[in-house]
Amino acid sequence: MSGSLVIAGLGPGNEALVTPEVRAALALATDVVGYIPYVARVAPREGLTLHASDNRVEIDRSQHALQMAAEGKHVVVVSSGDPGVFAMASAVFEALEAGPAAWLDIDIQVLPGITASLAAAAQAGAPLGHDFCTINLSDNLKPWSLIEKRLRLAAEADFAMAFYNPRSKARPEGFVRALEVLNEACGDDRPVIFARAVTTPEQVINVVPLSQATPEMADMRTMVIVGSSTTRIIKRAAGNIIYTPRSVL
Ligand SMILES: C[S@@+](CC[C@H](N)C(=O)[O-])C[C@H]1O[C@@H](n2cnc3c(N)ncnc32)[C@H](O)[C@@H]1O
Repeated sequence: MSGSLVIAGLGPGNEALVTPEVRAALALATDVVGYIPYVARVAPREGLTLHASDNRVEIDRSQHALQMAAEGKHVVVVSSGDPGVFAMASAVFEALEAGPAAWLDIDIQVLPGITASLAAAAQAGAPLGHDFCTINLSDNLKPWSLIEKRLRLAAEADFAMAFYNPRSKARPEGFVRALEVLNEACGDDRPVIFARAVTTPEQVINVVPLSQATPEMADMRTMVIVGSSTTRIIKRAAGNIIYTPRSVL
């Protein structure tokens, strides 16, 4: 019996943003594997086993998924947003590379989803309409010195920047320092978008000038987008639009 492994993105939260391709994979799955809140987004049904696990066990979870697929199950590993953006696709491939040779024969597919930075940008207008970069501000998997270097160089290169994992209870200091670095390195007062729980009923979008951005404006459900030097605001009664023009002259 040949199994399969699909690594799927569930999008930023709104069920309407789950792609038809991901819905079809979930409908065929025998087993769904993932972090507890993401597995909770999958409706239980007969014939489907849900395997929810804690956040810090990505490699264990990946090995479990690969082993079940090798045994003939149709396994879907779920991530929020896109599975290739700071999420499970890389973890599964790390486990695959280090695992038994038999796992190399598993039928594996990665199905994209709408990542939080793009969902947040769409709510604000088009702040990522010119060149941009994304940085994960968590120092769980890399040293803080590298994050700080990347922040400075991205500011120097005048990218718009989208920050994932900006601040958590366990890491309250990092985002304080990130704002200090950005205020030093950007040298002007460009717009900063704090987009929390985007596309869910709890969504809040808050836009402030960089000099007025404070650490408590972000938490682990927030996407932070810092404009480039060309990012502009169109003021409207119906809600301001933040966008970065297509060209730099
Ligand atoms: C571990 S990363 C996972 C990213 C995910 N794979 C993606 O493509 O969106 C988790 C971070 O994504 C951001 N995020 C995820 N969903 C979000 C949402 N609905 N609204 C705002 N930010 C979100 C937050 O910055 C959060 O700390």
